[in-house]
Amino acid sequence: MEFTVKTGSPDKPRTGCIVVGVFEGRKLTPAALALDAASRGHITEVLKSGDLEGKVGGTLLLHKVPRVGADRVLLVGLGRERELSEAPFRAALGAAMRVLRGTGASEAAFPLSATLKGRDIGWYAEQVVLAVKDGAYRFDRLKSKPPKAKGALKRITLVVSKRADVAEAERGVARGEAIGEGIALAKDLGNLPGNVCTPTYLAEQAQELAKRHGMKAEILERKDMERLGMGCFLAVAQGSRQPPKLIVVEYRGGAKDKAPVALVGKGITFDTGGISIKPAAEMDEMKFDMCGAASVLGTLRAVALMRLPINVVGVIPATENMPGGNAIKPGDIVTTMSGQTVEILNTDAEGRLVLCDALTYVEKYKPAAVIDIATLTGAMVIALGHVATGMFSNSDTLAREMIDAGNTSWDRAWHMPLWDDYQEMLKSNFADFPNIGTRAGGSITAACFLARFTKAYPWAHLDIAGTAWKSGAEKGATGRPVALLSHFLAKRAA
Ligand code: BES
Ligand code: MN
Ligand code: ZN
Repeated sequence: MEFTVKTGSPDKPRTGCIVVGVFEGRKLTPAALALDAASRGHITEVLKSGDLEGKVGGTLLLHKVPRVGADRVLLVGLGRERELSEAPFRAALGAAMRVLRGTGASEAAFPLSATLKGRDIGWYAEQVVLAVKDGAYRFDRLKSKPPKAKGALKRITLVVSKRADVAEAERGVARGEAIGEGIALAKDLGNLPGNVCTPTYLAEQAQELAKRHGMKAEILERKDMERLGMGCFLAVAQGSRQPPKLIVVEYRGGAKDKAPVALVGKGITFDTGGISIKPAAEMDEMKFDMCGAASVLGTLRAVALMRLPINVVGVIPATENMPGGNAIKPGDIVTTMSGQTVEILNTDAEGRLVLCDALTYVEKYKPAAVIDIATLTGAMVIALGHVATGMFSNSDTLAREMIDAGNTSWDRAWHMPLWDDYQEMLKSNFADFPNIGTRAGGSITAACFLARFTKAYPWAHLDIAGTAWKSGAEKGATGRPVALLSHFLAKRAA
C-alpha cells in the first residue's frame, strides 16, 4: 500500500473513491462543500433524500458525481459538529473503511483538515493511515482457500489544502506507516494459534525481525535461565512440553552510553491455567496471552522503521502454562531470580511469575525506564472494559508520560493506584509472599506483586487484558498498545 500527500481541491484527484465528512443536520465539512460546489449542488440534493443524517458512523456511497474526479464519493457521518472529538472521528474512519473495503476501489483519497483542538495535520494523517491499514488487515493465512479480497486498496492520497501543510502531513504518514507495520506484526503474532505460535516460534520471529532491521537478538534457553536462578519463570515452564525461551532484542539507535528503555512483554503462548485449570468456555482466547510479547516486537519494528534515536531493549519470557505430571501445584514454593520466595497459591496467576524474573533480569541494562506489557488479569477487563489499558507505575513522571502517549496516539491508558495499602493483600505463612491476594482489586494486587521486583528503576506496568484483543464476531488481536509505546519512545527520543 502506498500513501502520498497532495495539495489541491478535493474534486480534482482521479481516484476510486474520495471520503468526506458530513455533520449531523446534513452540514457539510469543507471538503464535502468543495465537492458540492464542483458538482453544482449534487451532494446537497442527494442528502435531501434523508439517506444520511450525519450521525456518527453513518455512510452513503455515491457513484459518478458530476464534475468530480473520483469514481465514487463516500459520505461519512461525523455526528454533531460541536461535539466532534477524537472518538467520533475514529469511529467515522472505521465505518468508512468498512464500506470502502466492500467496493472494488483500489485507490482512495482522504481530504484532511485540522479541526480538533491540539491536533495538527500530522495527527490526522497518522490516524488515516492507521485506520486504512487496520481496515485492510486480514488474517487468512490459515484458511485453505484464502478469500479473494475485493479491489484491495493499493494507493491512498491524502489531500491537504495548503502547501505549508504538506511536510507535516508527510511526517504523520511516515509515523502511521511505521506504527501500522508494528501493529500488523503484533496482530499476526497474536492471531496465530497456540500450536503454531510457540515460545520457539516467537524466538524465531524475534530473530528474523532483528536480522531485518539490524538489531541484535539473543535467545536464552532453559539451562541459561537455570544458571541465572530464574526459578519462578522456570516453575511455570516445567508443565509444558515446549521449551521456554527468554527472548532479548536490542535496538541501538541512540548514543552508545545512553541508558535504554526496556520493554518486557508477557509471552504465555497458551494459558490453560495449569493445575488451577480454566473453564472450557472461551479458553481458545488464551492463545492471546502472548499479546504483551507481540506488542514488544511490534513496537521494536515501528521504532526501527522510524529510526528513532534511542536505545530500546525488548525482553520476552515465553512459555506455555500447562497442566501435567511435572506441572507446579498450588502451594509450591519457588525462589525467584531476585532471591525472594513465592508461594504459588494459584497456578493460573502465571503471568506475574514469568514477568518477575524478566523484570529482575533487565536490571543488568541499568535502564532509564522499564515498561512491562501483559494480559495479566481478568479483573482488568471488569475494571476498564475494552477501552482503556490499565497503567500502574512507581514513578509519577513516567506515569504522566504513559498517559500522555496514550492520549496522543489515541491508544489510551488509565492511571490505576499502586498504593502501599494494597500490598497488605500479599501475605503468606510459608514463603515471602504468595502469587495472589483476595479477589478484590485483582489487577492491583497483581501490579503490587510486580512492584516487589522493580524497585531499582522507574517502572510502568500496562495491563492489556481488556484491550489486546476483541472477542465475538470480530475476534482478533488489536495490536494495542503498539501505538502508545511508539509515541512514548518517539517523545523520549526527541
Ligand atoms: N491471562 C490471564 C488473564 C486474563 C484472563 C486476561 C481473561 C484476559 C482475559 C491470567 O494469566 C490469569 O489467568 N489471571 C487470573 C489471576 C487470578 C488467578 C488471580 C485471573 O485474572 O483470573
Ligand atoms: Mn493465567
Ligand atoms: Zn495468563
